[in-house]
Amino acid sequence: MKQSGGSEDQKRRAGERAAARVDDGAVVGLGTGSTAAHAIRELGERVDAGLDVVGVPTSFASRELAREVGVPLADLDAVDGVDVAIDGADQVVGVHSDDETGAASSVLVKGGGAAHAREKLVDAAADAFHVVADPSKLAASVSVPVPVEVLPAARTVVADAVRDRGGDPSLRRADRKDGPVVTDNGNLVLDCTFDAVDDPRALATALSTTPGVVEHGLFVDLADTVHVGTDDGVDVHD
Ligand code: 5RP
Repeated sequence: MKQSGGSEDQKRRAGERAAARVDDGAVVGLGTGSTAAHAIRELGERVDAGLDVVGVPTSFASRELAREVGVPLADLDAVDGVDVAIDGADQVVGVHSDDETGAASSVLVKGGGAAHAREKLVDAAADAFHVVADPSKLAASVSVPVPVEVLPAARTVVADAVRDRGGDPSLRRADRKDGPVVTDNGNLVLDCTFDAVDDPRALATALSTTPGVVEHGLFVDLADTVHVGTDDGVDVHD
């Protein structure tokens, strides 16, 4: 499912630049994935240097990394609000690599790490949501499978509903094992391929209203900025 072609340096530049925007005293949503991990590490460096922040992790993996690098943590239900969230994406629709001043994308595809339910919760709660990405994530339209987290018992009925909308659902399986990927919430993931997603908002609404769907990976109108790490800097789309 994961298909990033970006370099680690590009991801690091994006993550570090977004982390540099975090103010002292902030509650920070900590995204999941290799690009968001660079932001968490940079926050750890800044905490070492005296920055006072509280991180709200979006996954077991982001919690573990934050603990390792010394970012203090709290659960979402233990904070009054989230000032800023920093998170990666599998696809960022509508931002072009030669467009240095374009608006932030209003459609993201997330969930390559099966963490999109908690990611959406935290990213949507944040006053500002900074997306961090490399140029390989930029696309003109949704062209990667849309991850859909489902209750285990709902796997077949949700798969049927996806087929009814012209999609091709595939149960995500763990690498080198026969068993399915199980999310941090104890659910399964259907990766749903669509030939064309002409109206991502309509698809998002249809998936959200399908019984048994816990959350899907279409993030519509949530991003405030997109930080795209390049070979020699960062393009910031506000
Ligand atoms: C996890 C996500 C990640 O943010 C997304 O998969 C991007 O990961 P990476 O930065 O490793 O390419 O949505 O559910």
